[in-house]
Parts: sequence; structure tokens; C-alpha cells
Amino acid sequence: MNKKTFLSGIQPTNIPHIGNYFGAIKNWVSSQGGSGETALDSYYFLADLHAITVRQNPTEFERQVLDCFALFLAVGLDPELSALFVQSHVPEHTELSWILSCYAQFGELSRMTQFKDKSANQKEGEVNIGLFSYPVLQAADILIYQADFVPVGKDQKQHLELARNIAVRFNQAHGETFKLPAPYNNITQNTAKIMSLSEPTKKMSKSDANPHATVLLLDDKDTVVKKFKRAVTDSEAKVEYRENDPAKAGINNLMTIYGAVCDKSMPEIEAEFGGKGYGDFKTAVGEAVADMLLPIQTAYNRIRTDRAYIESCMKNGAAKASAAARKTLIDVKGKVGFLVVDN
Ligand code: TRP
Repeated sequence: MNKKTFLSGIQPTNIPHIGNYFGAIKNWVSSQGGSGETALDSYYFLADLHAITVRQNPTEFERQVLDCFALFLAVGLDPELSALFVQSHVPEHTELSWILSCYAQFGELSRMTQFKDKSANQKEGEVNIGLFSYPVLQAADILIYQADFVPVGKDQKQHLELARNIAVRFNQAHGETFKLPAPYNNITQNTAKIMSLSEPTKKMSKSDANPHATVLLLDDKDTVVKKFKRAVTDSEAKVEYRENDPAKAGINNLMTIYGAVCDKSMPEIEAEFGGKGYGDFKTAVGEAVADMLLPIQTAYNRIRTDRAYIESCMKNGAAKASAAARKTLIDVKGKVGFLVVDN
């Protein structure tokens, strides 16, 4: 049987928002396990090692990792069907990362757009080497599990390309070692790209300074409804979907969200709200999102108070991941020629 391997990670630096949910996490949940022809092994992790490229407050950082892991479980990621883990609990990632850094080139890393953007916003003394070599660690994350597919957003495509380039280079030097990972095409899947509520031509983003721009998975109903009420729209007052019309970006986004939550097509939504104003529509979207979030939040509140359960899931996930990662790492070390002594 030709089982495929899926892998993805997110940084545990904030509570995920509905853009992360509809653009990625929801799909991770539904694709778990698969069956028959489409059976898959999946690895989903919190990229805490990546998160320290920016200074974290240690107490908050610990809490955020617990929060995000509890949320993983609450949205329906199943520790039986997937390997769910925290990146720093699987030390093989860092070990492979060092080896791969010797197969990555200074020039290609200097060309990474994310590095250029992030370093441009920082003062000279604040650009750490981790920020620069971050894509090598990401390559290790991916290659160590021999992943076939990595569902990533557009912003991570370049990092995936780099992972492929490093894999090709290593394979050429030492023979077939790493599988070449492919981006997982979100377009053919049931995922939606969610934009900011206050600047709907920009993607909804964790790092948005405006708290009204993003809806977090743990926002309560009041907050969610309020955020949608304030969402930027246009003055046409017509619930009509017009792709590629920048004037309609706000309404297109709200319709996309409503469609994703209620599983409705754009014409269905247009019919439902024909003749109604934006006020009614925004309330309906806000309430639909809040209703969708409620069971997730109920599960979250239950799981988050059970630290022993969270930790046992983390340990099992790390053990599963580590068993797979070790195989690749041993192969790599042997090929590089590290001396092995029996003990
Ligand atoms: N760099 C990704 C982000 O910031 C997170 C990440 C780390 C990742 N390792 C990965 C994503 C491996 C996919 C595969 O969003």
C-alpha cells in the first residue's frame, strides 16, 4: 500500500484565528487517517523552536504551548490518528537541522523573503542567526519524516522549495535519502482563504496590531459578534460576491466565511440575503461563527484544565514522531560518515 505522509506545523505564539482554522487546521482534522487509497500518516506539531527566533516571555511561552496543544485536541485533531507533538520534544529535528545547515547555502538563505522582511524591520543588533537559519530547521522538520505533502500557505512556499533543494543536494551527494516534499494544493481542497476584517485585501494575520482584524478561536460570542459588526465593507449595501473586485473585498470575505461555516455556496448566500442590508448579514455571520466556535471552546475548557491528559498526549505524540525521525537521522548520519561505536 502506498501510504502518504502529511506534515504541518504552526507556531504556538498566539491562539489560532479563523483564518488558520479554515485555511489549514480544519483540513488537517478531516484528512486524518484517511482510508484505502488515500490512507495517510499525519504529523502535526507546535513549532516552538521556531518561535524563539523572536524573544518570548518564558512563563507566557509555556502557557501558550499548553493553550495551543489543548486547542489542537479541542478542534478534533486525534492523537490516535495523527502524531501530535511539540517540536522541542523531538530533539532529532535540531540534530538534523545542524547537519542540513552544512548543505544549505548562505546565498539562498539570504534570499528568503521572510528573512528579508523580518530582518528589515529590526535593528542591526537584533537580527539573530536563528532568524536566518529558520528555514533550515523547517527543512529538517519536513525531511526527517519523509513527508510527501506539506499543506502550507503562500508565505511558506519558498521555505518548502528550499527544503526540496537541500534534499536534492543531499541525495546527489550521498544517494537517495530524502523524499522530495510537495506543497499541498489548498485550492483543490476544501479550504478558504480568510482576509482581515479591517483591511480585507490583506490576509488575516496573527501579528495584526489591530485586534478587530482577526477572530480568534477562543473569542467569546460577544466579542465575535462585535468584531463582525465592525468589519469593513462598502457602501453598496448589496450582499453580492464579486471576485477580483477590490471594492467588494470586505463583503467577499464575509461571504467566504459564512459559506465556510454554513457550507453554502455564494449564490445561496446571495439568495438568502437578497434585499437585506449589511447589518443583518454581519450579525448572521458573527452568530454563525460564534455558534461554530462554541463546541470547540467547550472542549477546550474541559481539556485545558486537565494538564495530566495534555502531557500524556504530548509524550505519546513525541514518542511516535521520534520513532519515525530516528530512522531518517540514523540513515543520514551513516551516509555522512559519522563514526558509530557500539556500547
Ligand atoms: N514556519 C511555519 C510558520 O511560521 C511553521 C513551520 C515550522 C512549518 N516548521 C514547519 C510549517 C514545517 C510546515 C512544515 O507558519
